[in-house]
Amino acid sequence: MLIDGYGRKHDYLRVSVTERCNFRCQYCMPEKPFSWVPKENLLSYEELFKFIKVSIDEGIKKVRITGGEPLLREQLDVFLKMIFDYKNDIDLALTTNAFLLKGAALRLKEAGLKRINISLDSMQEDIAAKIAQKNVLPKVLEGIEEAKKVGLKIKINCVPIKGINDDIMEVFDYCKDNKFPVRFIEFMENHHAKKEAKGLTSDEILDRVSKKYKIIRKVPRDTSSPAQYYEIEGGYEFGIIEPHKDDFCAACNRIRLTAEGHLIPCLYFEDAMSIKDAIKNDDVDKAVEILRTVLKNKPEKNKWSVKDDNEVSSRAFYQTGG
Ligand code: GTP
Ligand code: 5AD
Ligand code: SF4
Repeated sequence: MLIDGYGRKHDYLRVSVTERCNFRCQYCMPEKPFSWVPKENLLSYEELFKFIKVSIDEGIKKVRITGGEPLLREQLDVFLKMIFDYKNDIDLALTTNAFLLKGAALRLKEAGLKRINISLDSMQEDIAAKIAQKNVLPKVLEGIEEAKKVGLKIKINCVPIKGINDDIMEVFDYCKDNKFPVRFIEFMENHHAKKEAKGLTSDEILDRVSKKYKIIRKVPRDTSSPAQYYEIEGGYEFGIIEPHKDDFCAACNRIRLTAEGHLIPCLYFEDAMSIKDAIKNDDVDKAVEILRTVLKNKPEKNKWSVKDDNEVSSRAFYQTGG
């Protein structure tokens, strides 16, 4: 079992297969051009899989593939199948922007993928284009349609930014009509995002929803989920991810592995340890030792609740996949 220094059980591994992305979401990517980590610095699928196997042996029950945009890395379905074939009851999931999903959904499903979380920030083409800094909406919607058609379980993520996509009800209704749970995520300030970006708060999100629908209850929290769900009249449930709240991290069960082999205990902090050499030397015991050290030193909580403009996270979301 994987327990951290605060007694939290860890059974969820998020694996970023690339930091590259075909979008430039304002809340995630730097405005200025920058260079990507060279491809030769990345761990191969076989190497990533070596670490995933030992993590599963140590107690990981859920593996989520993230990016950047994971569908930019070739043969992702082959990688998913390696994991599925090792343990077919693993909760195998993917987080994507869906731009390339139409052509990939069936292969991903056949490889063993069970669930998919998709970013959808607006139902208006121009607003979606403003956020992603590219015209993305038509292809994203086609991708979502296809994922639904092939039978993948879908959740939608939406990050509302004030003055841009803060009119959240069209996304809400699209998700409600399609029975996709939507989670509105409070923007997490970081050095790479657009400086002026301000996110809607959880209260502002609730306020917008309750102007249109009656919220009948707060759904008892599944402690391992970052989202608090609410039910509206008629039974539809939506979620809010509220990292600015002090107790958000109390039940954290997540650890992140980047494409370069860095193990990251918390989305907020730069702290990381590399398992690259251990994996390249086939030293699985060393990799497990590093995993345990990272967990032992995992911080108690993030600092998004600290209201100080000098306290901004420098960790890049595009490297950790959120
Ligand atoms: P499910 O397995 O469907 O519950 O997915 P998930 O919410 O774990 O994964 P997803 O990639 O959809 O994550 C949604 C977003 O929630 C992330 O991109 C982050 O923005 C946020 N989030 C998830 N885990 C954490 C965390 O440990 N800390 C913080 N601050 N935010 C997190
Ligand atoms: N704040 C909140 N959510 C973010 N995401 C990316 N950057 C941020 C941020 N700064 C979310 C995206 C995507 C997931 C991988 O992370 O919306 O759904
Ligand atoms: Fe790409 Fe996701 Fe970042 Fe948007 S949030 S730029 S889709 S990695």
